[in-house]
Amino acid sequence: MQYTLELLKVIEGALSNNLTQVTAYSELLASKLEKEGDDRSAKSIRKKLNSLSTQYSTAGLNGQLEPVVPVDKDSRLTLGDVLYPTLDGAHILLPASIQESVDEFLSFISKAHLLAEAGVGISPSMMLYGPPGCGKTQLAHHIAAKLELPLITARCDTLISSFLGSTAKNIRSLFDHAASRPCVLFLDEFDAFAKARDDQHELGELKRVVVSLLQNIDALPENTILLAATNHQGLLDPAVWRRFAYRLKITLPNKELRCCLIEQFLGDFCPKNVKRIADATEGMSGATIQQACKTAIRNAILLGQKQIDIDKLIIGLSMEQYQDILNHSELSDEDKIIKLRMINSKVFTIERLSVIFGLSTGKISTLTSNKDSN
Ligand SMILES: Nc1ncnc2c1ncn2[C@@H]1O[C@H](COP(=O)(O)OP(=O)(O)OP(=O)(O)O)[C@@H](O)[C@H]1O
Ligand SMILES: [Mg+2]
Repeated sequence: MQYTLELLKVIEGALSNNLTQVTAYSELLASKLEKEGDDRSAKSIRKKLNSLSTQYSTAGLNGQLEPVVPVDKDSRLTLGDVLYPTLDGAHILLPASIQESVDEFLSFISKAHLLAEAGVGISPSMMLYGPPGCGKTQLAHHIAAKLELPLITARCDTLISSFLGSTAKNIRSLFDHAASRPCVLFLDEFDAFAKARDDQHELGELKRVVVSLLQNIDALPENTILLAATNHQGLLDPAVWRRFAYRLKITLPNKELRCCLIEQFLGDFCPKNVKRIADATEGMSGATIQQACKTAIRNAILLGQKQIDIDKLIIGLSMEQYQDILNHSELSDEDKIIKLRMINSKVFTIERLSVIFGLSTGKISTLTSNKDSN
């Protein structure tokens, strides 16, 4: 029968007195029936659900019943945010090899029942790691959108309660919640667990937290999809890594990908010579490129231009990327100019440095050539 999985989950939920599971899987069944055109059955399931207790809000997609995510007992902050990402809102561009792994992961999930029948089921879990701003969070949204499942993003900072002892309980209640409904559980900024070591927590408490995390990961039902993301992979315990069947490094975009990102971010405002911009963005993340592209579009609109100004965009990108140097309070403008020129003289040309620092090209030439002759 087509809907055996959903029915079994509803029965399992009812037998274990788990109302969240009953509601969530009944809702999933209703939406599947609706998609198949059986509106009548979908409607009667929803009617039954609506007569259920008030512990469910109707904030879900299309006013569906939405199980309430547990909260931290002390701060009353919710332990996770529920989102229903769409493919339009979670568009991502990845290098071919990374895209292949994502596709494999998605196809593994869609064929999970076949694998489970053959006795080779593994829990669908993936750790995303790599430098900031390269699309890890965006990819988690994209995966949930592809699977048409809600994304429950754990607030790792709230999970790690400031009160000793509550953290393990928080982890447990969030994982129990995720296990009881069809969803993707996403542990973003996962390194918060490792970083807690530097906080006021004792080492013993932290060990208990990590053990509890591992136990909860191990106890997840085979069909709960678990994603985690970090940009401090070096801080993670090897035992944590082992729990993730897929480990995907999301790297800084290469030139080809940067061209595609620039075209996507600039849309109709994109000039013909994208390669020139891509050349000037080596080592930059998707997030940095996106930010500078947004500013360039805003400027083009204000100036009534149909396309962005390439030179201004490159200046914007460089300023975005090297904010640390530009805003460094202990460096003089001269030091900054020399430093930037040394980092990348192709991007930081005399003309661009003159625009950035509001100095004449002659003055910039003198400063940089003095340095060259030293
Ligand atoms: N490869 C990419 N494809 C499409 N958009 C991207 C890509 N990389 C970054 N972006 C854009 O940059 C923004 C920031 O990316 P995101 O938050 O996913 O990065 P992250 O890797 O999670 O960073 P952090 O480690 O700081 O959390 C996204 O909203 C997205 O629009
Ligand atoms: Mg992120």
